[in-house]
Amino acid sequence: KSLKEFNTFGIEAIAKQYKKIEAEQDLKDLFDAGSFEGEFFVLGGGSNVLFTKDYDGLIVHIASKGKQHFIENDQVFVTAEGGEVWNDLVWYCIEHDFPGLENMALIPGTVGASPIQNIGAYGQELMHIFYSCRAFDTKTGEFVTFSNEDCQFSYRDSIFKRECKGRYIICSVTYKLDLFGQINISYGAIAAELAKRGIETPTIKDVAEVVSYIRVEKLPDPSTVGNAGSFFKNPIIPKSQFLGLEKQFPEIVHYTVDSEHEKLAAGWLIEQCGWKGKKVGEVAVWKNQALVLTNAGKATGNEIFALSSTIVDDVYTHFGVQLEREVNIL
Ligand code: EPU
Repeated sequence: KSLKEFNTFGIEAIAKQYKKIEAEQDLKDLFDAGSFEGEFFVLGGGSNVLFTKDYDGLIVHIASKGKQHFIENDQVFVTAEGGEVWNDLVWYCIEHDFPGLENMALIPGTVGASPIQNIGAYGQELMHIFYSCRAFDTKTGEFVTFSNEDCQFSYRDSIFKRECKGRYIICSVTYKLDLFGQINISYGAIAAELAKRGIETPTIKDVAEVVSYIRVEKLPDPSTVGNAGSFFKNPIIPKSQFLGLEKQFPEIVHYTVDSEHEKLAAGWLIEQCGWKGKKVGEVAVWKNQALVLTNAGKATGNEIFALSSTIVDDVYTHFGVQLEREVNIL
């Protein structure tokens, strides 16, 4: 089965086996058939994966749909199936006037993928609204529930990327939202765009619209230019190392994480190395956001990976900072 339409880089790769999951029973059936004993990979929207070769195993494509909510006092619990498109859930919440997801409008991908790397954007992170998820244990064939604490979230990270990597398939996620939650426009770009539009008391819909507008301006649309959003994570480095860098590069873009760590803007580091807008063969560094690598035409996964390695080396040479890839390499 060709995976080209199932990854936002638009890379051609062939999967030896492929199964579309529409209900939990489909997972049970796969388990009973022994399918999880071999190699398998769980695919949602395909917006965070780079295929560098054909896949010699089973692709489990999560396509289950459904959204519901229930209100309890000042809170609402919203549950969505793993295959729901994340942005559809964002707009479901906005239509019902449930705050909390609006800053994360237009993030590509699915609900089932949202906890894995603790998606986040424009001042909001999934971990702040995540209540629990129901997951299928491919080792035991049982369904289990993970609480927020169980997931051990941190910046672009969770237990599903570490100890539990490859073991659980997330079937549905429940988000807990505060019905009277405050709007968060702490991210400079949002406040600036709202001001430009003359909006003084924004609704969650205004915020979602502004965030979507900013994303469209900055980030390439995967339906026309293959990409997987940020290719790298923003590196978190010890304060001592940061102070040294700041002396050398007073302009360095950074955010304080805690008293001992600073997070750097990887896009800035890459841009300083001269990569922004550069094209190498069929691969390009996006002109408006250097953190994004794009398939400029007929790139192969290996070509994209090779350019990412060159960038990692270059940033290390210039700044002594090791960039980590955010995208899953297969
Ligand atoms: N910058 C540059 N050059 C660039 C890109 C960025 O100098 O080419 C500097 C600018 O100073 C800019 C700052 O970096 O003000 C921050 O840039 P931006 O607001 O675009 O955010 P980011 O830190 O580069 C992160 C997320 C994005 C998310 C935005 C907005 C990661 C790895 N990326 O990018 O997430 O949309 O913040 O919150 O944390 C994704 O994960 O796929 C993704 C797109």
